[in-house]
Amino acid sequence: MQDKKPRISFFGLGYVGIVTAACFASKGFKVLAYDIDESKVNLLNEGKTIIYEPCLDDLVRYSVKNGFLKASVDPNEVVLNSEITFITVGTPSKQDGSIDLRFVKDAANLIGKALKSKNSWHLVVVKSTVLPGTTNNVVKVTIEEISGRKGEYDFGLCSNPEFLREGSAVQDMLYPDRLIIGGSKKSTDYLLNFYKMFYEKLPETIITSAENAELIKYANNAFLAMKVSFINMIARICQKLPSSDVEIVAKGIGLDKRIGPLFLKAGVGWGGSCWPKDLNALKRFAEEIKVDVPLINATIKVNEEQPLIAIEYAKEMLGNLKDRKISILGLSFKPNTDDIREAVSIKIINKLLDEGALVVVYDPKAMEGIRRIFGNKLVYAKDAIDCIKNSECAILVTEWEEFKKLKPEDFLNNMKYPALIDGRRVYNPEIYSSKLNFRAVGLGYRN
Ligand SMILES: NC(=O)c1ccc[n+]([C@@H]2O[C@H](COP(=O)([O-])OP(=O)(O)OC[C@H]3O[C@@H](n4cnc5c(N)ncnc54)[C@H](O)[C@@H]3O)[C@@H](O)[C@H]2O)c1
Repeated sequence: MQDKKPRISFFGLGYVGIVTAACFASKGFKVLAYDIDESKVNLLNEGKTIIYEPCLDDLVRYSVKNGFLKASVDPNEVVLNSEITFITVGTPSKQDGSIDLRFVKDAANLIGKALKSKNSWHLVVVKSTVLPGTTNNVVKVTIEEISGRKGEYDFGLCSNPEFLREGSAVQDMLYPDRLIIGGSKKSTDYLLNFYKMFYEKLPETIITSAENAELIKYANNAFLAMKVSFINMIARICQKLPSSDVEIVAKGIGLDKRIGPLFLKAGVGWGGSCWPKDLNALKRFAEEIKVDVPLINATIKVNEEQPLIAIEYAKEMLGNLKDRKISILGLSFKPNTDDIREAVSIKIINKLLDEGALVVVYDPKAMEGIRRIFGNKLVYAKDAIDCIKNSECAILVTEWEEFKKLKPEDFLNNMKYPALIDGRRVYNPEIYSSKLNFRAVGLGYRN
């Protein structure tokens, strides 16, 4: 068993790679990271990152300055100068929703090439979200073919899925609920020993097969998404009832310890870089192995329809949306991140543009990403007040703190016609409905 700090390498400097690499390096582990995107490598070596994540800038700056974190454009260099390699490349969806393993295979290829010239045992850890069987049947097999080395004898393999949440990624990485590690005894012992050095107090840990570890990640995401789609379905019932409110219903069921209060927040739907692609990948995988998954299908269906509630409400309040000025408050898929992958804002904006509306948008961090998609089809505001100025309807899509602070008077004094749709249930319905034309997801009609 190793007692010297192992050196770590990374393949992939996206949200997971950069956060994990910076956290390891900040505790004195030597970390070398490779990415096919040279601009990310160069930026990291300047002590910077392109993503926004609370506390990440400080960690990266500190680790690079003190020589613990370095990026490289040479995949051989990072493997040969480390004992453990984490694969943190993206696993996007193909057109049909199935998982695209292109980046994982490329990374395994490069690791295989490097391992050809390495004589000591090396551990490869698959942190990317991959379907059951991928670590052993794709990553291991590819590395074996390319390197001519034998899995488990010359190199080890673990599945170690990541559960960090964007917006609190550093905190989640440093203080996780649990660690899931799958693989052979030698490989999982090695990785566990590294984590014992990294964490002062080891989190709850499950050591299991690689297949179980891989499936835990999908089951986890599917369950959380199902909980949100469930409360969104209940929200639709509330909307048809006088004096009903999904917030109270959610509180009522959340107090049941068997259910719990988390992930019962109704809204205009979920998006992001993980749930949509992971649920679709699991659905396709289940189809391939001939397993019926009606709950996954329903979870996805509810979510596809959910953003339309905002459009229905806008039409209810304004009638025809053609040439009406509509403000979108919040663009990122959730607060405290600049990530707009599969963001609900994009679906709502597209629908409003189809209806001929004039759309003004604002987000504290995600303006650039949205500008790259929509270009001059939208008006880009400089802050929240600028966004709602002279508008006829405002839709709150992402619950950033600064939007929660907006008072009814801000809408009354700035909008042409004060119609507000609360897509994330942040405003007090009693207060806001008494002063504005107000609708909210899961809020029953008022007499
Ligand atoms: N983002 C999250 O919140 C989150 C949370 C848990 C798990 N995950 C999973 O972690 C994985 C990574 O997600 P992400 O959001 O960090 O992805 P990302 O798209 O932000 O980053 C992936 C990075 O990998 C790089 N890359 C691609 N091919 C490469 C190769 N052959 N060698 C080296 N680098 C390569 C890309 O250039 C990119 O920088 C995915 O499987 C995702 O499902 C993500």
